[in-house]
Amino acid sequence: MTKTQADITHLDFEFKKTYTTQVEVLVGVGAIKELPKAIARLKPDKIFIVCDTNIAELYLEDVKKLLSDSYEVYGVTHDPKESNKKLETVAEISTEFFAHGGSTQSVICTLGGGVTANMVGLFASIAYRGVHLINIPTTLMSQVDSAADVKHSVNSERIKNAIGSYKAPDIVIIDPNFLKSLNPRGLRAGIGEAVKHGLSQDMEFVNYLLKADYSDPEVLKHIAATTISLKIDHWKHSPGMWNDTKLVRRLTHLGHVTGKIFEMIHLDYLTHGEAISHGMVIETYASHLLGHIDMESVEKMRSVLQQLELLYPLDETYTVDTIMDRTYGESDPPLFALLTELGNPHVLSTEIPAEVYREAVSWYLSSRG
Ligand SMILES: NC(=O)c1ccc[n+]([C@@H]2O[C@H](COP(=O)([O-])OP(=O)(O)OC[C@H]3O[C@@H](n4cnc5c(N)ncnc54)[C@H](O)[C@@H]3O)[C@@H](O)[C@H]2O)c1
Repeated sequence: MTKTQADITHLDFEFKKTYTTQVEVLVGVGAIKELPKAIARLKPDKIFIVCDTNIAELYLEDVKKLLSDSYEVYGVTHDPKESNKKLETVAEISTEFFAHGGSTQSVICTLGGGVTANMVGLFASIAYRGVHLINIPTTLMSQVDSAADVKHSVNSERIKNAIGSYKAPDIVIIDPNFLKSLNPRGLRAGIGEAVKHGLSQDMEFVNYLLKADYSDPEVLKHIAATTISLKIDHWKHSPGMWNDTKLVRRLTHLGHVTGKIFEMIHLDYLTHGEAISHGMVIETYASHLLGHIDMESVEKMRSVLQQLELLYPLDETYTVDTIMDRTYGESDPPLFALLTELGNPHVLSTEIPAEVYREAVSWYLSSRG
């Protein structure tokens, strides 16, 4: 039998997402009281408030009460912690949503930290290919960063944030009153993302953070509003960034290659803010070894992060070999965002040769005291 060439018809089409979402971010002490007014414009048939079991005990009933006179409101809970930021937990949230008749007109509210925001944001982006989303962050980390953001992801077995999507929330309500129940380490964790923006965009803000009174809700409001403003400003100056995030590392990724690996090496040991703070020092030292930044800046950064109590002691699981294996052992070579000067947002998006990164990690682990 002779082989004949298959008769193949070639067709193509272009897919372009063109819609824009205007995100309303309300920041203020007592801002949660604005929730009923803010949610009304979304005309929900049902409201699902998703939180972890710790937040359910603390705040779920109070937030439900704000809405239950006017709407059908369901609370959905999940187990807390980074180790539960996985597809299985998203599937459990999905089961609850559909069991209670969640529809395309339902609104999903996240109430909690970045773990809740990431998982529920991912679910809201895929439920009916996108339902309305409101973020009500209750950690400083989520108030300064994950709540006013569009990235949502969960972890695979080995890789942090490996499975994700983009979706803008419709409304974000940031109320520092929620932070009163956070323990000091939990509160400090949020400063990690705030100081990242300071170190790369605004050294005045770094000085403010070093002197701030973290027990004052108005100070916490200022920190959240300033950090989000710096992030929005960075986005405005990065046109097309959502199309090329796989290729270009922005300043929001400072310390994040190493930080994310540090979180995965020992799940639930470091807070996200602590992990990226270790990462910022290591990666900035690597930048120094590559001749991009002076040593004085590396030391200044380390001193700032130490003063903010963000360099939480690493345990024995953090060895040079483990870190190297995790960083360079995957299929994609890591792309870093490297600082060239403190306060300068023009970071370098580049690979680091493995031997240079090894030297930076060895220096850091041997000098961490
Ligand atoms: N752009 C983004 O999407 C983005 C940005 C930054 C961080 N993240 C992700 O966020 C996660 C870290 O978030 P996180 O630091 O908020 O941690 P988290 O969500 O794990 O919360 C930390 C702990 O604090 C508890 N908690 C939350 N609010 C509380 C409150 N008001 N009072 C008492 N306890 C409270 C939680 O129950 C949990 O046990 C990481 O997975 C990180 O990757 C995402």
